[in-house]
Amino acid sequence: MNVKKFIDEKIREIRETVGTETAVSALSGGVDSSACTMLAARALGNQLKVIFIDDGLMRQNEPQEVKSVFGALGVEVEIVDARRMFFRALKWKTDPEKKRKAFRKCFYKVFGREVKRSGARFLVQGTIKADIIETQGGVKTQHNILEQIGIDPEKGFGFRVVEPLKDLFKPEVRLVARALGLPARIYNRMPFPGPGLACRVVGKVTPERVETVRQATALVEAELGKLKPFQAFAVLLADRGTGVREGRRMFGDIIVIRSVESRDAMSAKPTEVPWPALNRLAKKITDEIPGVTRVCCELTPKPPATIEYI
Ligand code: XMP
Repeated sequence: MNVKKFIDEKIREIRETVGTETAVSALSGGVDSSACTMLAARALGNQLKVIFIDDGLMRQNEPQEVKSVFGALGVEVEIVDARRMFFRALKWKTDPEKKRKAFRKCFYKVFGREVKRSGARFLVQGTIKADIIETQGGVKTQHNILEQIGIDPEKGFGFRVVEPLKDLFKPEVRLVARALGLPARIYNRMPFPGPGLACRVVGKVTPERVETVRQATALVEAELGKLKPFQAFAVLLADRGTGVREGRRMFGDIIVIRSVESRDAMSAKPTEVPWPALNRLAKKITDEIPGVTRVCCELTPKPPATIEYI
């Protein structure tokens, strides 16, 4: 792939599409939306407004860190606090596809509102090829592929969607992100799903349960990040297990450690994590997260499992 040629072409295309109108970029801090935002910022300058929706489902300190990384590159990011709306939309939902659909609906509602508020006619977002293939194949509902599945965002939401990365897979997106001047901690970053930690909470998605998985995720990323896996994270199960805390029995939460190796997320195999690292991690998670009594490690490849849990 000729990265420079790709960037030049996309910048030209974005300019042609948006013309003299304004666009909004949906930044989440992942590699895809970061590369996409930088492309759009290069193409449109101050015709682009960058919005980060804080849905309450992000990793630790994510909104502030994203704002500071982009700020350093001269791109201003507005954080929109939509946590209550997302938790309300997800309330009582336990079925994976219902959660995804609720997330997607809420995402577009919030963005639709923000795009309208900004007066922009275009929404730039970082959909990549794997998102499209899996949604068309019926594997799952992604939140960002409205047009590919025949829903017209202009009719439903009042704006057009621009997706400059839709022909690329993740490794190519990383090259583009790097060439656009983004720091290594962004272009080397593990993939993170659009619906965020909601993909890693089996059962009810409440602020408390998300906080548990958020803390566990930070511990997993810190310990297993050293192994440079494709993706490593924590999952909170809906089940519980008995443990003993301070001499008393407690029926607590179960955290699963999931670490996988993959090239493009279409298939994956479990990371061969050294036993001492797993032991350290299990101890840290149960020591530092009071509600957790058990930690398990998952060994299933994709297929038959998917990488995320919903
Ligand atoms: P699965 O769980 O389908 O995940 O094996 C494949 C890859 O996609 C990520 N993923 C998502 N990314 N929106 C995204 O932007 C989503 O709804 C979504 N669901 C899964 C997942 O983290 C993995 O890298």
